This record gives sequence, C-alpha cells and structure tokens, in this order.
Amino acid sequence: MEQAWGSERRRTAIGRSALSMPARQALADGQLLTGRTVLDYGCGRGDDLRALEQLECRVSGWDPFYRPEPQPRTSDVVLLTYVLNVIEDAAERRRALLQAWELASTLLVVSARLTWEKTKVKGEKFADGLLTSRQTFQHLYGPAELRDYVQQATDVRVVAAAPGVVYAFKDDRARLSYLAHRVVPDAQWLASQDTATAVSALVDFCERRGRMPLIVEMPPEVAQLLAHLKPTELKRLVCDGADTRQMAEGARRSTLNTLLYLAVELFNGRGPFAGLPVALQQDVRSFFRSYKEACRRADRLLLKLRDDSYVRGAMQASAAGKLTPTALYVHRRALERIPTVLRLYEHCASIAAGRPARWTVAKLKHQGRAVSWLDYPDFDTDPHPRLASSYLVDLHTLEASHLSYAHSSNRPLLHRKHEFLAPEDADAARYRRLTEAEVRAGLYEHPRLIGTEAGWEAELARCGRQLRGHRLVRRPGSME
Ligand SMILES: C[S@@+](CC[C@H](N)C(=O)[O-])C[C@H]1O[C@@H](n2cnc3c(N)ncnc32)[C@H](O)[C@@H]1O
Repeated sequence: MEQAWGSERRRTAIGRSALSMPARQALADGQLLTGRTVLDYGCGRGDDLRALEQLECRVSGWDPFYRPEPQPRTSDVVLLTYVLNVIEDAAERRRALLQAWELASTLLVVSARLTWEKTKVKGEKFADGLLTSRQTFQHLYGPAELRDYVQQATDVRVVAAAPGVVYAFKDDRARLSYLAHRVVPDAQWLASQDTATAVSALVDFCERRGRMPLIVEMPPEVAQLLAHLKPTELKRLVCDGADTRQMAEGARRSTLNTLLYLAVELFNGRGPFAGLPVALQQDVRSFFRSYKEACRRADRLLLKLRDDSYVRGAMQASAAGKLTPTALYVHRRALERIPTVLRLYEHCASIAAGRPARWTVAKLKHQGRAVSWLDYPDFDTDPHPRLASSYLVDLHTLEASHLSYAHSSNRPLLHRKHEFLAPEDADAARYRRLTEAEVRAGLYEHPRLIGTEAGWEAELARCGRQLRGHRLVRRPGSME
C-alpha cells in the first residue's frame, strides 16, 4: 500500500538477525511472558515478530506499509519500537503513540533512536529532525525528552527501562511491582520434588530474605508440597533448619532493599501501603514497626543523598569500590555491597534515564550528582580491561550522554582491578597479586601515562615486562 507520507518511512525498516534491544529488554524484564498477548505496532519487516513467535510469545504485528492487514488488535503488551523517530509529521507521531497506548491493556513499550547517534545520521534539517539522502526522516530523542513525551501523551508515570526504552503501564500497580522487581529481582527457588526438598527450598528462601514467604510468593509446586503442614510446623522447620547468621543477614538486606524501594518510590510518587506489591508489604510488616516508620526512614535516606559530606563519607566507608578524587567506581558484582544511600544514588539515575543492558562498572561522582555505567566487555579475562562505552546521566539536569570507544585506537583502560570488587570476591586475590607485581616492577611510577592503551604499552616496554593472562612476566631480551 502506498502511503502519502512526507518521507520514505518504509525504508527505515531494517532486517534484523536478532531480537531488537527493546524487545530483549522487555523479555528480560519478564514483561512478554507466555500467556500474554503482544502486539508489535509498526513492526516493519517483522523480524522481531518471528523471533518472539519462536520464543512462544502470543505475538501479532501491524505496520501501515508492510503489514496493513489485519487491523491491529488490543493486546496485553504493545511494542512501539523505533517508530516515533521516523515520523516526520509531529501530529501524526503523537497519534501513532496514542493509538499504540490505546491498544495496550497492560504495558506500552516505546523505544526511539537517541541523540547520541547524531554522528551516524547525516541529512538536511527538516521539520523537527533531519531528512537523509535516502529521503528518510529521523527525529533523535534525548532519553529525558522521550520519557517526558510519552509521559505527557499517556498521562501516566513512565519508567526508563534502558536508555531509549520507556515503559508506560496501564495500571499503576504493575508499575510498582516492576520497580520492586528492579530493587529485588524475583527469588530463585530451589527445585523441589518432595516434602524434604520443598522444606530445603523454604529454608533457603528464609535465609536470603530474612523472613517466611507468603503462600503467593512460593512457586505452586512448593506450596502444594508444603500444604499439609500447619504454619506453626513450617515455622519450627525453618527455625531448626536455617542458619541464624544468614537469616539476620537476609533480614538486613531486605530492610535496606525496602528502604531503597520506598525512597525511589517517593522520587516517582509514593502510594498507600495497600498499593505496594504484596512481597514488599510483607517486608514492611516483618522489618519495620509500621509503614509510616519505613517511609520516614526512606525519606531520611533521600535527604542524605542530597548531602555532599554524607555521600562522601559513605563512599569512604564503602565495603567495595575504588574511590578517586572525583568518584566511586564499583563493579556490578559488588553493587549490593555499597552503602544503601549510594545504591539509591545509582538506582535513581537508572529509573530516570535507564541503565544500559551492558555495563561492568558504575561510576558515582561525589561532587554534583551523576552516574556513568561503563562497559568493559573483557573485565574478567583482560588483566587491563579496555573501555568500550560509557553512558552518563546527570541527576540534576536529567541529561544523558553516551560515548563509544569502538573505533578508538587508544582506549582508556583499567588498573588495579581488584579495587572495583568486594574484597571477598572470588577473583579479587588473583587481581591483587597482579597489581602488586606491577607496582614492584615500577609500572605505576607515572600514573598519568598509563590511563590509555598506548601509554600503558609504552610503560610495559620501558619496564621490560609483558602480561601473560593475569601474570606479569619479563619481556624476552629485556635487561634485569
Ligand atoms: C524504523 S522502522 C521500525 C520497525 C520495527 N519496529 C523494528 O524495530 O524493527 C519504522 C516503521 O514504522 C512504520 N510506521 C510509519 N508510520 C507509522 C505510523 N503512523 N504508525 C505505525 N507505524 C508507522 C514504518 O512503516 C516502518 O516499518
């Protein structure tokens, strides 16, 4: 069907060999579960559609050019991926968004290309974007612009799921349970086949969460296997089987997670107790005197986040991460180990602008409030991992920026890897030994030279050393 469009929109639809990033994100977030119906609105050539079908999603697609029939049907989840940015007519763009919102009964997932792709999109200025030489249109969005645009059109609070991907939920409870899930991912229950293994799974849950689960928190098979036991019997079994130290640690973690959730909730507009996801209601009942007390403590936490000297003190006291004159750097494996106020700091940035799917180290600035997620794809295997990209969110302006080092011939690299991890991390000791050997060899005598690949290579050569895995060895032919 020929469309009377002011640009060649059909040409923007690319063939995909893998699921698009927003569809992957929604899948990873558990939003495209089996049983839910999914509509890919503006599906282009339909590759996401086919990939989701293979994953046994109940998915249908509609596109004004590629798949105009049958008409789109109301579905639980609607994907509107990379459609808004190609529509040159601002009024039609908004209509497309509202139409997609109308068709979603649970969740609308919207994604758009972001301003950081500016260098990849060349063209003449046209309306509020660019017209390329192929006569395709692109309006590139800032992450905050996209969030505000969708929020304003749908009139609900939206959440940034990843950079350039926002979720608008029809029911605010679904949004709250999604936010809760981001703070405390669903508990993984141990497999159980009989009463004994079901009791072990129950004990394991209690040790991790610091409390008994509600029936609705149990997988159906566990609930069934334990159904013949009275609550008092279950409690006694947990008392007998659980390690008290682990239970106390679980309770501490759940208390902090609840505070984190409630603090972020204020940032988003906190609701009544009954509106909380049931698992969090149970955490509040178990670990606080009242919801009011929990909210008060969460508010204090948010206030502390504004206090520079408090934040700096928390960074100095942190059990994990590397503190530099400008920021605290923490590996993602150690994020749970930093003080709650700093986890809140990172979390607020992720809710505002989306945490990228690929990242290794979070950088929290201590002057001003800005978080960067740095991607070092070879952190585990490279003794001096090279930076692939960084995504920065300024919490004052909510502006975000992205830097890619994919084509850089002299990438920044990391030293003293163990400092980014918690001391008890399984790899920390090996990394520390390497650092110590490098210090002894004189490789850190000129810190300013070694921050990028070329300078580091030159220092290795000067000191007559080379790396073999995580071992520093003498370079052949080098003098003692
Ligand atoms: C960049 S493609 C994205 C295709 C697909 N969603 C993907 O991510 O691969 C943009 C698509 O939007 C479709 N489109 C153009 N105007 C539209 C409108 N008003 N409503 C819905 N889709 C539209 C185009 O036909 C094109 O297939």
